[in-house]
Amino acid sequence: MSSFLLEATHISHGFETDLFSNVHLTLSPSSSAAIVGRSGCGKSTLLHIFSTFIKPDEGSVTLLGKDLYTLKEDAIEALRRYDIGIIFQFHYLFKGMSGLENIEVATMLSGETVDEGIFEKLEIKELMGQKIGELSGGQQQRVSIARVLSKKPKIIFADEPTGNLDKETAELVMDVLLDYVKENSAGLLLVTHDEDMASRCDLVYKLEDKVLTEEA
Ligand SMILES: Nc1ncnc2c1ncn2[C@@H]1O[C@H](COP(=O)(O)OP(=O)(O)O)[C@@H](O)[C@H]1O
Ligand SMILES: [Mg+2]
Repeated sequence: MSSFLLEATHISHGFETDLFSNVHLTLSPSSSAAIVGRSGCGKSTLLHIFSTFIKPDEGSVTLLGKDLYTLKEDAIEALRRYDIGIIFQFHYLFKGMSGLENIEVATMLSGETVDEGIFEKLEIKELMGQKIGELSGGQQQRVSIARVLSKKPKIIFADEPTGNLDKETAELVMDVLLDYVKENSAGLLLVTHDEDMASRCDLVYKLEDKVLTEEA
């Protein structure tokens, strides 16, 4: 079995026009990688391909030792529920529930227990009893990140996770994500247009002119 958490080879995809071709990317345990590139170049599409949501026109994705696009739907569902953490720019929390209740639902589904240490690190411990609708956008984003980490994922996919946060909170979120990866031998694949955030990852890839290259 491959020692990579994620190994993507010869990936090509397009919608009306070709977005990228012959993309290769690997992610090892305890490591982080960022994908940067201009708006519309296909970063989110690539992340969706790596994370079970879009079957590419060509190529293969091996995630946690499984050849993704040959799996049956129930195996994909299990990966999503237990092993993958997905952080989007726009979070999907239950508005009428408190932060803590949101996290309890997620941990119940994934068979984990709530880890309050994560709330402390994200500086949201005091807010967890409040309804989501009463929190600011940045606070909600941190609750949604706590929810993802509470699942104890083996690999985290994050699409512009700090896009709506002020600089200081963005740095805090990056600290927490990078610490999580090291402490849990997990992986982080981050899409961002923020070069500062990207440079904090172990590897930076650039998607440009339909080609993904590793930056020196
Ligand atoms: N499901 C889809 N159907 C058709 N076109 C799409 C779809 N998803 C993305 N696109 C198009 O693919 C291009 C790349 O989108 P995206 O991957 O979101 O880029 P980025 O995240 O780099 O901004 C855009 O032109 C977008 O409109
Ligand atoms: Mg995008």
